[in-house]
Amino acid sequence: MAELRDYVEWHKQYDDPGSDLSWRLRTVQAYLHEALDRHPGSIRILDLCSGDGRDLLEVLAARSDARRVRATLVELHPKIAEQARSRAAGAGLHGVEVRGVDAGVSDNLLGAVPAEIVLMVGIFGNISDTDLERTIKTAPQLCAEGASLLWSRGRDRTDRNDRVRAWFEEAGFAEVHYDERDTGSRPALGMMRFGGSVQALETGKRLFAFDR
Ligand SMILES: C[S@@+](CC[C@H](N)C(=O)[O-])C[C@H]1O[C@@H](n2cnc3c(N)ncnc32)[C@H](O)[C@@H]1O
Repeated sequence: MAELRDYVEWHKQYDDPGSDLSWRLRTVQAYLHEALDRHPGSIRILDLCSGDGRDLLEVLAARSDARRVRATLVELHPKIAEQARSRAAGAGLHGVEVRGVDAGVSDNLLGAVPAEIVLMVGIFGNISDTDLERTIKTAPQLCAEGASLLWSRGRDRTDRNDRVRAWFEEAGFAEVHYDERDTGSRPALGMMRFGGSVQALETGKRLFAFDR
């Protein structure tokens, strides 16, 4: 298994409001508010590789309708997962479960899908092209009918985003938003809407593994 970056340290980029990561955070949160408005009633949210969950948890904490949401955050790093749990508890968000397990293993997502909102933010720049394609092709197994799916990928090392957008379309998704910023890591964020029908989650499958 590849040695991963220090993701505790990585989160400190959020301290600078001018950073690419802070730009991404604001964009993710705007998309999330829109997605929550699009999906009324009791809904599920699945956040893969959630980090400390600030993007989603800050949005839920700011909304009066957070009680209708059951959110599952999946974060492998024990300390970061604990930070997400504390953040949820501090905001009084009782419908949030943080699983400290590998989000790339399908069995670890059982009971959390199909979800009306799926976050794949901060994943696609850290996995191989093979894993990237496989993850997108498996995305229909995570989505409820009409689900909103958020994804991100920086374009500073390699720009695969035309392929990413095409793979999503091939898998039954239509693009709702795509935003880019041309500084530093050249971040980009997309939101897709799932137009296919619900698929059962195949157990015993690996979707991806981080390579950095
Ligand atoms: C680039 S950060 C993104 C965090 C968060 N989504 C955000 O945008 O702020 C990637 C996160 O994924 C976690 N991670 C890496 N591999 C993972 C895996 N296989 N399963 C779950 N989490 C993983 C890391 O510990 C890190 O917190």
